[in-house]
Amino acid sequence: MSQDAKKRQVAEAAFEKVRHLLDSETPIGIGTGSTANCFIDVLAESKIQVLGAVASSKATEERLTHYGIELLDLNATGTLPVYVDGADEADPRLNLIKGGGAALTREKIIAEASVQFICIADDSKRVDVLGTFPLPVEVIPMARSLVGRAMVELGGDPEYRQGVITDNGNLILDVHGMSITDPKGLELAINQIPGVVTCGLFAKRPADILLVASDNNILEFSRDA
Ligand code: 5RP
Repeated sequence: MSQDAKKRQVAEAAFEKVRHLLDSETPIGIGTGSTANCFIDVLAESKIQVLGAVASSKATEERLTHYGIELLDLNATGTLPVYVDGADEADPRLNLIKGGGAALTREKIIAEASVQFICIADDSKRVDVLGTFPLPVEVIPMARSLVGRAMVELGGDPEYRQGVITDNGNLILDVHGMSITDPKGLELAINQIPGVVTCGLFAKRPADILLVASDNNILEFSRDA
């Protein structure tokens, strides 16, 4: 099965999982990327009238608007019952690397504001140890070199993502060569460097449920299991 077909299947599985929450009174959170886009497509095709969604990026806002799905302001919704988003890597404890699409900061805000975070991915995203995918770090522009040097101190090899400005007007450093055996400790350490907006480690607030599409079926992993 192609990767695209897997993304569509896992999006359908997530839709079935959250269907009971989809009504005209309940806000939901929706992430960014090709897998999250599949979820938006499935939601739109269902024709269920939802209150609307808090989007983790301008790209997602545009897709939701295209389908006539209302955009909601997180400041007005308060806590969200559920957030559905993809990931670049997921480890067995449902710690994630995110930010391949440069939307990590808003993604982290929405994850933190949600009761349940359902992560959807194809099976290429499952790893034993995070770090093969370069770790994205969102950085205030004037701190690019400072943060880069700090990442070298932490054992990484930072690469400036050329030509990318985040929705928040910042830069992305992709940090290669990190074998992340203590995701929460590293997340906290990186986030304390002045100039870092946030890093793409989701360990302090990992996913609650990970749905993974393989060739034959959808696997479900729960953090509580
Ligand atoms: C965007 C993200 C995405 O969730 C991540 O990059 C996965 O994207 P895709 O579903 O296209 O593989 O973190 O910032």
